[in-house]
Amino acid sequence: MSQARLKIEVAQAALAHVDAGMVLGVGTGSTVNAFMDALATAKIPLKGAVSSSDETTARLNAMGVDVLDLNHTGDLSLYIDGADEVDGHRRMIKGGGGALTREKIIAAAAREFICIVDETKCVNVLGEFPVPVEVIPMARAYVARQLVALGGQPALRDGITTDNGHLILDVRGLDLVDPVSTETAINQIAGVVSSGIFARRGADRVLVATETGVESR
Ligand code: A5P
Repeated sequence: MSQARLKIEVAQAALAHVDAGMVLGVGTGSTVNAFMDALATAKIPLKGAVSSSDETTARLNAMGVDVLDLNHTGDLSLYIDGADEVDGHRRMIKGGGGALTREKIIAAAAREFICIVDETKCVNVLGEFPVPVEVIPMARAYVARQLVALGGQPALRDGITTDNGHLILDVRGLDLVDPVSTETAINQIAGVVSSGIFARRGADRVLVATETGVESR
């Protein structure tokens, strides 16, 4: 089965968790795009959605879904998003699409976070995928030096400004055997907005599309 087909399979499986009338948190990326297509086809009427990126907002608007301000919704009952890597403890690296900060905010405000991935995203130890770190522009070089001190090799993501007006450093080589500690250490660096390590608040459920069906982990 192609990776695109696996994304469609897991997107359709996620629909079973969506209730009519809910305010849904919606992530960013190609797997979530497949989920939004499935949602549009299923015509589940939502009260609205909270979006993690301008790209997702545009798609939700095109589907006729009301995009709501998180400041007015209170906590969300459900957030659905993809990931770049996920381990056996439902901890993730996210932000390959650059939407990590809004994704982290929605994850924090959601009572349930369901991560939807194909099996290529599953790893034993996080870290093959570089960790995205969103930074305030004036702190770019300072944050990069601090990330080197943590053992990383940061590289500026070329030509990218996030939806929040910031820059992204993609960091290779970090020790992620204890991802909660590394996430916490990066959070302490002045000028860091957020990192793509989602370990302190991981997913509550991971739906994984495999060649033999969608597994709930
Ligand atoms: C977006 O910033 C990311 O966190 C995505 O969730 C992640 O990159 C997964 O994207 P795909 O579904 O396109 O692989």
